[in-house]
Amino acid sequence: MSHQATAIAHSNIALIKYWGKRDEARMLPMNGSLSLTLDAFYTRTRVRFFPELGEDHVRLDGRALEGEAARKVSRFLDRVRALKGHEWRAEVDSYNQVPTGAGLASSASAFAALAGAASRAIGLELSPRELSILARKGSGSACRSIFAGFALWQAGTDDQSSYARPVPASNLDDLVMLVVVVNAGHKGLSSREGMRRTVATSPFYPAWVEHAERDLERMRIAVLEGDFTRIGTLAESSAMRMHATMLSAAPPFCYWEAGSLLAMNLVRQLRDEGHECYFTMDAGPNVKIIAREATLPRLRAALGEHFGEEALITARPGPGLRIEDAEA
Ligand code: PMV
Repeated sequence: MSHQATAIAHSNIALIKYWGKRDEARMLPMNGSLSLTLDAFYTRTRVRFFPELGEDHVRLDGRALEGEAARKVSRFLDRVRALKGHEWRAEVDSYNQVPTGAGLASSASAFAALAGAASRAIGLELSPRELSILARKGSGSACRSIFAGFALWQAGTDDQSSYARPVPASNLDDLVMLVVVVNAGHKGLSSREGMRRTVATSPFYPAWVEHAERDLERMRIAVLEGDFTRIGTLAESSAMRMHATMLSAAPPFCYWEAGSLLAMNLVRQLRDEGHECYFTMDAGPNVKIIAREATLPRLRAALGEHFGEEALITARPGPGLRIEDAEA
């Protein structure tokens, strides 16, 4: 007999970035962050617990996961097992509608979906806040993918106070994020390693933390008021400051590629021409452009000319975690 559930979680892109942990074991961030959950990228995960199974089996897009990636999922399942007090092992089948490891936040949707499916399959009824806390332990940014639209992850001071919640927004239904896939390959340095190195060695890091908290509150208000110009300006600045901490680490590192710079310059140029748009970037070379629906055709034409239509993915505000079925 199996105990199973399936969950779908969408990825999110931070407008105020999370970069650096104050407590790695407990996954507590140095600063709070604010993100937008997107419709275009998601992970669907089915978890089946079998009381008689000897070990966990994890498949991603139909292929067995091995090594550290599989162990990470098992360690996460250990947390779920501990919450329920069962030893059951599981079969996990996960499908990503996100290029894995390309800075498109596949870990966020992956661990949010796993938190939802595993907790329901084992018989737990967790609240959105509890799901956010659980997902955080798989991948920090996953705690924001529990929620639709804008979500704010408050840094908190301990396990129970570090979670995300929805942020009220006005007049932002026509917001779009145009993803420019500069390179869909697997990124070099994991965000975990990148954060570790930055916190330990960048002389700019304390300034990052101080300004991130201030910008977080400004962004929360800009979202509440639907102030698109302020949202875009703050988001672009948060991304640039985060990347500045990486450039100043020892040894320095950089996720940008030539195409990333080209996309950023095109955004600035379009903005100067009156097509309001802003960019953000994460731990990978891809550029995400924040704009409004009315500007999208012009953006797609301009970016398409350089990168090709197939490199452009239009994303819009997306839904929160959905748990599809549970059966005993
Ligand atoms: O949660 P992780 O380990 O995927 O780290 C996410 C880090 C950034 O994407 C760069 C920023 C963010 O807040 O999502």
